[in-house]
Amino acid sequence: VILRSIDDKILQEVSKAMAPSVEQFSSTSWRPRLFDNKVLFCTGGSGSICSGQVRALVALGANACIVGRNHDKAKNVAADIALVRPGSIVLGLGGVDVRNHESVKEAVETCVQRLGGIDFVIAGAAGNFVSTIDDLSANAFKAVVDIDLVGSFITAKLTLPRLVASAERARTNKDLDSSSLTGGRIIFVSSTNYQCARIAQAHVCAAKAGVNALSDCISLEYGPRGVTSNVIAPGLIDDTEGARRLTDPTLRNDLIRSVPVQRLGLIKDISDATIFLFADTGSFVNGATIDVDGGAWRIRAAGAGPNYPSLPSRAHQVKLGRGSRL
Ligand code: HXC
Repeated sequence: VILRSIDDKILQEVSKAMAPSVEQFSSTSWRPRLFDNKVLFCTGGSGSICSGQVRALVALGANACIVGRNHDKAKNVAADIALVRPGSIVLGLGGVDVRNHESVKEAVETCVQRLGGIDFVIAGAAGNFVSTIDDLSANAFKAVVDIDLVGSFITAKLTLPRLVASAERARTNKDLDSSSLTGGRIIFVSSTNYQCARIAQAHVCAAKAGVNALSDCISLEYGPRGVTSNVIAPGLIDDTEGARRLTDPTLRNDLIRSVPVQRLGLIKDISDATIFLFADTGSFVNGATIDVDGGAWRIRAAGAGPNYPSLPSRAHQVKLGRGSRL
């Protein structure tokens, strides 16, 4: 018992000294310097969810390039993320619209020149607003599909050759520790809207369903070249600007009640799924979608009523008879 408590103490001290910021952004199971020498390219990196993903990877050793439309936002968010780990390099490139092939191409080239390659990609740029089909013009529908879906394709198309090279490097680099065996991975940030209809979200549901299909096809074509492609589909993530903008605060308690785990998501939930997929833990996961929504879409699909999560009363179960189907 004494030895164990000494061991625990030493472990605590070592992890405190090595990675003061790691605990803040990811579960304690992720080891410090997991992504040393790795480079992440992220679109939509100035947004709340993606900047959280980038922050977690940088905390664990990666360097990163985030791109976005707004110059100041990209630069400021990049500078803020870089503070998480002294010595890290985080580029913030503004003026990059994922709908524009040339602007993404330029950003990818800058990333490769400045950081030496690309090992991981997060395709996270997205547009969203609330509009029923009655009010949705064809141009508004197209704007969201162009950002979410066409933008994801352009990002993938321009970075996949870099990811193939990274996967090859990881495969042949036998001298380094196991963290270096990872590389050549792309994650698309979708939404649970990809699989269920939502009122006033036709444009987003259509675009996100396409993003999932795109990722599946990439997993099929690029798996043999060592690249994995997966989707993270967030549910309602509480600590984001999008959630603040698009949700009615008076419905907050109802929203929480409608999630099986009885809470809303946090940016950290998405970061942890990201680390899992990019680390060696995710090496056999390809063409998958991880719904990070506390099970919320399951109960929508199951058609759970307004009294959820109350279970049928014992008397009601007895009346139905043991083993009866509800
Ligand atoms: C209704 C809108 C609109 C809005 C634009 N449009 N914004 N319609 N409500 N808020 C319509 C315009 O009227 C126009 O149609 C067409 O869309 C194109 O508009 P532009 O302004 O020219 O396009 P663009 O500058 O490319 O704008 C992109 C956009 C915009 C996505 C459409 O809303 C935007 O930039 N949003 C900010 C970024 C964003 O949404 N981030 C969210 C990330 S995801 P007409 O017919 O007039 O020409 C997220 C998930 C949260 O937040 C989930 C929580 C539930």
